[in-house]
Amino acid sequence: MAKRILITGAAGFLGSHLCDRFIKDGYDVIAMDNLITGDVKNIQHLFKLDNFEFFHHDITKFIHVPGQLDYILHFASPASPIDYLKIPIQTLKVGSVGTLHCLGLAKEKNARILIASTSEVYGDPQVHPQSEEYYGNVNTIGPRGVYDEAKRFQESITMAYHRFHGLETRIARIFNTYGPRMRLNDGRVIPAFIGQALRGEDLTIFGDGLQTRSFCFVDDQIEGIHRLLLSDYSDPVNIGNPDEITIKDFAQEILMLTGTNQKIVYQRLPEDDPLKRQPDISRAKKVLGWEPKISRSQGMKITYDYFKNLSPEELEKSEHKDFSNHIRR
Ligand SMILES: NC(=O)c1ccc[n+]([C@@H]2O[C@H](COP(=O)([O-])OP(=O)(O)OC[C@H]3O[C@@H](n4cnc5c(N)ncnc54)[C@H](O)[C@@H]3O)[C@@H](O)[C@H]2O)c1
Repeated sequence: MAKRILITGAAGFLGSHLCDRFIKDGYDVIAMDNLITGDVKNIQHLFKLDNFEFFHHDITKFIHVPGQLDYILHFASPASPIDYLKIPIQTLKVGSVGTLHCLGLAKEKNARILIASTSEVYGDPQVHPQSEEYYGNVNTIGPRGVYDEAKRFQESITMAYHRFHGLETRIARIFNTYGPRMRLNDGRVIPAFIGQALRGEDLTIFGDGLQTRSFCFVDDQIEGIHRLLLSDYSDPVNIGNPDEITIKDFAQEILMLTGTNQKIVYQRLPEDDPLKRQPDISRAKKVLGWEPKISRSQGMKITYDYFKNLSPEELEKSEHKDFSNHIRR
């Protein structure tokens, strides 16, 4: 009998790629999303399949899924600074109450659960590169605290369910990932640069551009998550690409890739923006036999081609999102 997997945040960037992967592997996939930052267009190609179901549901409300469940991938959460700064309370709720609901469901069904944590649990790190042993440097009350602390709580409660209830849990500490289906306006570096390049605007760098990032292509990320889910390892595992680059050099790479001759302009660095980001992936190599395979130039070409080939309507849709219904005044 096919294994059944619930994927929360399924209409989002990573969630939709996970749906594709587990459908391809022959699983029955139950997708759940409230569409607050995701879009059904990311998964609508799966709607015709018998082994795919979609529940339009907010996981901060009680979750019920009929029948057996073997696995849960908990990916629901706003993930980009623009999103979580606009919807801070929902971000805290989905990381806390939403995670509690997912863990409760996993316990009820005796299912294994993997939660999507983040490199943001390391905050603005004082060790470099970041290994899983580093406890982080997070400002609890800064604007980004709503995301970072929600994710730290998510890890704590997951370990508590593991230790107290013997639940099979997995924790992926995901570092910056990019690829097709990102939203152009989500405030992250890669879509921001690509969007500006496509619109013929100058590329904006926040700060002096000497801050670093390490970007992982989505196919590598999905493979890492897949291996972690099927492993027997319950401590957190960093999944990301250690190939580090300054934002300034990356902006130059984008200009080369797009063949455009825009300028680079500089603006003030936002509060608590981490200055360095690079995963230490020794643990992933050892316990999962995993490391990224796709170079930045290969991955960026695929990503740029995806956005370049979107119709003007799709591009427009990927740029605008109206949060007015979700913001408490
Ligand atoms: N993309 C990255 O580089 C990255 C890095 C670190 C961690 N992560 C984590 O991976 C997960 C997915 O990130 P993403 O980049 O795909 O973001 P995304 O915004 O594209 O996807 C998140 C999905 O969760 C859904 N969602 C949010 N709140 C919900 C709720 N209460 N109920 C049901 N659905 C809800 C959204 O509608 C969206 O479809 C997040 O948990 C994020 O923290 C992503």
